[in-house]
Amino acid sequence: MIRARITGTGSCLPEKIRTNFDIEKMVDTTNDWIIARTGIEERRIAADGEFTSDLATRAAERALEMAGVSAAEIDMIVLGTITGDYPWPATACIVQENLGADKAYAYDISAACSGFVYALSCASDFIQAGRGKKVLVIGAETLSRIVDWTDRNTCVLFGDGAGAVVLEAAEDSESGVLSSHMHSDGSYLDLLYQPGFGTRVTPSVENITDHIPYLKMQGNEVFKVAVRSLTNVSLEALEANGLSASDVSLFIPHQANKRILEATAKRIKLNDDQVYINVHKYGNTSGATIPVAMDEANRAGLLKSGDVILLSAFGGGFTWGSTLIRW
Ligand code: ACO
Repeated sequence: MIRARITGTGSCLPEKIRTNFDIEKMVDTTNDWIIARTGIEERRIAADGEFTSDLATRAAERALEMAGVSAAEIDMIVLGTITGDYPWPATACIVQENLGADKAYAYDISAACSGFVYALSCASDFIQAGRGKKVLVIGAETLSRIVDWTDRNTCVLFGDGAGAVVLEAAEDSESGVLSSHMHSDGSYLDLLYQPGFGTRVTPSVENITDHIPYLKMQGNEVFKVAVRSLTNVSLEALEANGLSASDVSLFIPHQANKRILEATAKRIKLNDDQVYINVHKYGNTSGATIPVAMDEANRAGLLKSGDVILLSAFGGGFTWGSTLIRW
C-alpha cells in the first residue's frame, strides 16, 4: 500500500509585527480585551509589495530544502488560500513559476481556514492513487488585505503567513497520512464570508464606501459551531483509526482563538501538553495556521518518528476537516 509521508516542512511569516497596542490606536479596543477573548498578542502583516504568492514560495522553498527534493521533481502543487494574488489565475501557478516546478500542475483550493487540510486530503489521495510521487501542499494568506481595519469585531483576529509541506509516496510505510475526513455546510454562508468582489457583488463606489469588499463575521455564532465541529471531526478521525485521545502525541488545530482551541481540546479529552498553540504570536492566518504550526513544532523537535499527529480545521463555508498522521 502506498502512503503519503511528510518529508519536509517550511513556513514564512512577514517581518512586520502588529501588536494589540498598535490596534488600540486604530479601533476602540484594548490589549486586555483581545488577550482575554482570543489569546492573541500580536500578528504579522505583509509589507507593501509582499503578496500571498511570495509568502507561499518562501515557505515551499524551506519545505523542499528540508525534504532534499528539487522543485523540478514536484508532480503537483495544491495551495489552500482565500487571499490569492488575483481572483484568477490560481496563486499556485504563480508559485510554480517562482519555484521553477516545471513538471507540476498547480491549483488553489478555496476552503477558508480549512484550506490546508482540504489540500492535504487531495494531495494524499493523489499519491495513494499512484498518480504522482512528490507533491507540495501549501496554506498561505494575506488576510490583512481583506480585513476591515475599522471593524473591531474582526480586525483584531487575523494575520498573514504561509506554511508548506512536501508529501512523498512511500511503499508499505507505517508512517504517513492515515486518514482524512472533510465536511462542508453551505447553509452558514452569511456567518463568515467576504461579500465583494466576486461576480455577485461587483465593484462600485457605493460598495466600497459601505465596506462591502471586506471580511464579515458573526463571531459568537461561528464560535459555537467551530467548537462542536472541531470536536466531532477530531473524534471521527480517532474512531476511524481505532485510537483514543491518549494515543495522540500532538494535536495541531487551526489556530483561530485560544478559547476555541481549549474548549475543543477539553471535549476531546486532551491534556494541555498534547495541544500545540501559537495563536498568541500570529493570530488567525486561516489556511496557513496548521502548516505554520507544524513547521514550528517540527523544527523544535516535537514531531518524532511514530508519533500520532491530529490536525483539525474549521472555517468559512462552513468547511471543516481532520487529518490523522503517523510521523
Ligand atoms: N474590543 C473590545 N470590545 C469588542 C471587540 C474588541 N475588539 N470586539 C467586540 N467587542 C464587544 C462587542 O461589541 C460586544 O459588546 P456589547 O456586549 O456591548 O454588544 C462584546 O465585546 C461581546 O462581543 P461578542 O462578539 O459576544 O464577544 P465574544 O466573547 O464572542 O468574542 C470573538 C468575540 C473573539 C470574535 C469570538 O466570538 C470568536 O473568536 N469567534 C470565533 C471567530 C473566528 O475565529 N473566526 C475566524 C474564522 S472561523 C475559525 O477560524 C474558527
